[in-house]
Amino acid sequence: MVKGIYIHIPFCNIKCPYCDFVSFINEDEQLYERYVNTILKELSFYQNENFNIRTIYFGGGTPSVLKPELIGKIISYIRNQFDTIKNPEITMEINPKTYKENDFYKVANYGVNRISIGSQSFLRKNLQSLGRDHQPIDVLKTVEYALKSGINNISLDMIYGISGQTLDDLQKDLEIYTSLPIKHISAYMLTAYEDTPLGKMVEKQEYQMPDEDITTLMFEKISDYFESKGFFRYELSNWAKLGFESRHNLLYWEDKQFLGVGLSAWSYIGNKRFGNVKNINEYLKRVENDKKPVEYSEILDEREKKREKIFLGLRLSKGIDIRDFNSVDIFEELSEQKLGVIDNNRFKLTSRGLMVINEVARKLIQELNL
Ligand SMILES: C[S@@+](CC[C@H](N)C(=O)[O-])C[C@H]1O[C@@H](n2cnc3c(N)ncnc32)[C@H](O)[C@@H]1O
Ligand code: SF4
Repeated sequence: MVKGIYIHIPFCNIKCPYCDFVSFINEDEQLYERYVNTILKELSFYQNENFNIRTIYFGGGTPSVLKPELIGKIISYIRNQFDTIKNPEITMEINPKTYKENDFYKVANYGVNRISIGSQSFLRKNLQSLGRDHQPIDVLKTVEYALKSGINNISLDMIYGISGQTLDDLQKDLEIYTSLPIKHISAYMLTAYEDTPLGKMVEKQEYQMPDEDITTLMFEKISDYFESKGFFRYELSNWAKLGFESRHNLLYWEDKQFLGVGLSAWSYIGNKRFGNVKNINEYLKRVENDKKPVEYSEILDEREKKREKIFLGLRLSKGIDIRDFNSVDIFEELSEQKLGVIDNNRFKLTSRGLMVINEVARKLIQELNL
């Protein structure tokens, strides 16, 4: 049963130097319309699947480069064509500065009830170091407009581990984030992906990434501070006020089925995982010629499904059900090393374990012969 739909909008007003998402700058309004029509056609290819839609997520790229009417067109199509619950969670990623007050009223009217704002930091020097084109005030205005339109389920993205960022700088950010009328925060450590301009600058030593010691301290500080302000960590990089966890992202982490449409989008339906092409012309051409734009697909066997359960479950604060595996020894060993705890048949990572999550996952896979 497919429970969520992800729609990838690959357009942006700027290309940030650290970003490795499939996204590019576009100002051609006609391409927006053509892309949305193509998305609708792609959705129609899946009409025979078993749907019970609880979440719709517009991600990117920057979905808020699209006019609200185009967002509304996609939502109406999904609601008319697929079995959808009465009040699905409908999230839109929003870049500061892209939507005006009126746009929020419009998207709220089309059903958007959750927004995720790419705020990254409230310190100008951090925004500059990240190459962002917005100022802290733009984020405050975006929050204000959303609230006025009735959208109160607001999430902010934060980046830490930025060149030159001190623990005091981080403290300032944490105080501002937790003082805002928001329900959810995603905090990501800056990653310098190889093929990005940031990755190249790091390689040429033109950008100094902070030491691991300091990012480890930052990670602990973030978690302790957010928890002290009533934002509970439910996933490695995500904190929410009780009841405001991202229902859509939980589908991914809890191994549920979802359909992803648009450039580079991933889906997981039945026991099949598949992904779309990454080239916009190829995507448009294939769908317009009545072909699915899928370029990669694999069937997950039982072993792979168990591996997936480990990778995804370790990220969650509720952890993994150890009864799904045929040995408890390794879970006990990791608990003795204080990397995790066993509680009610579930294995959950401690803060120490979360910091070495990839090593723990590898060890589990090796010891459980997966
Ligand atoms: C798909 S982006 C969409 C947000 C939106 N386009 C924006 O930039 O405002 C989702 C989030 O991923 C995070 N992110 C993207 N690239 C990252 C990187 N290299 N390191 C850490 N976080 C990153 C940012 O916090 C960003 O807001
Ligand atoms: S970080 Fe966001 S705005 Fe910047 S290029 Fe990536 S998707 Fe676009």
